[in-house]
Amino acid sequence: MKLATRTTKIAASPTLQMAATVKALKAQGIKIFDFAAGEPSQNTPDCVNQAAYNAIQANFTKYTAVTGIDELKEAIIETFQRTHQLNYDKSQILVSCGAKHTLYNFTQAALEAGDEVIVPSPYWVSYPDQIALTEATSVILKTEESSHYAIDPSLLDSLITPKTKAIILNSPCNPTGSMYDRMTLESVAELALRHDLLIVSDEIYEHLVYDGHQHTSIASLGPEIAKRTLVVNGVSKSYSMTGWRIGYAAGPKDLITAMGHIQSQSTSNPTSISQKASVAALQEGQQFIKGMVQELSAQRTLMVNRLNAISGITCPMPRGAFYALPNVSSLIGRRHAQGTITSPSELAHYLLTEAKVACVAGEPFGAPEHIRLSYTPDLSVIDQGMDSLARAIQALQ
Ligand SMILES: Cc1ncc(COP(=O)(O)O)c(C=O)c1O
Repeated sequence: MKLATRTTKIAASPTLQMAATVKALKAQGIKIFDFAAGEPSQNTPDCVNQAAYNAIQANFTKYTAVTGIDELKEAIIETFQRTHQLNYDKSQILVSCGAKHTLYNFTQAALEAGDEVIVPSPYWVSYPDQIALTEATSVILKTEESSHYAIDPSLLDSLITPKTKAIILNSPCNPTGSMYDRMTLESVAELALRHDLLIVSDEIYEHLVYDGHQHTSIASLGPEIAKRTLVVNGVSKSYSMTGWRIGYAAGPKDLITAMGHIQSQSTSNPTSISQKASVAALQEGQQFIKGMVQELSAQRTLMVNRLNAISGITCPMPRGAFYALPNVSSLIGRRHAQGTITSPSELAHYLLTEAKVACVAGEPFGAPEHIRLSYTPDLSVIDQGMDSLARAIQALQ
């Protein structure tokens, strides 16, 4: 079959592919230390499940308004006011089927051939592919491990051309765990204003921060910058609701309206039941987040310390999200019985077969010297998994 050319520009999400491989191995009864998953291990909070049961019992099971129910939009508006003192009205909110869908709606509504979008690297895997589907170009802004992956404003400035339409920020970041401080955000905001750029601020990990680090939303820096910022968020990560598929955006009314039209002609509304459940999450889920952050913080420390104790691996302490991104460049070139490790992808494959440790290679994240491990499993799984990983690395020659 002759498929559309655009299908040749993208690949299936590598993180979801690895998740599928792990599921298949587990189904065969093989025990896997699963550090590949991009989701919390906690159950969805009871208050959320209860709201969903209530919705079903009340037969709230039909189409809703395409852009989301008023009750959820009001809960989202209230959340933005409470957490960032940002004020939106309902016409500035769009609820979609996960934050990935929110971002897809954005790329389809705002980008076209010839546009350039600045993407700091390492980046979340889906940004470049979603941009490629619109025939716009990703312009990669490199950031360095040595500076905790901070954006260098003068490097950013040098990448801006008359074709630059937008810059994507992701803080806390998947996969680096880094966060942008206020000064950096102010520099980015100043450049966006000077060059008339849109900012897409993906804040899906905003509540998952450690060691007293504070998340700042760039939209909260002032009304002028809020007017040109699309804030992307959702319930997947903070409330352990990855399967419920609810993400949302807040931003300029004309952009939100156009994104709503794309959604209207593609998915229609996000699931009615999940929308009701998300109201409960936003209104009653704050204690749940506190508990999860405490657990994640201990898991993060254990995993990162164990990784750093392995000769050939270095791993900075992440500040937010739930991923460790160890540098494995000094393992490249080492040999095992079946061959030589020539890339992080091969290392990930070796670790899966040899140590039964699932992780994701860094290449599709723009991190060609790294692998990414989620520290979402509980402490004992991390401990045993790190034992197994350390043994497999020691066996390399
Ligand atoms: C940075 C980032 N943005 C967006 C998403 C998408 O989240 P959702 O499950 O709401 O589609 C993810 C999920 O992995 C992510 O890591």
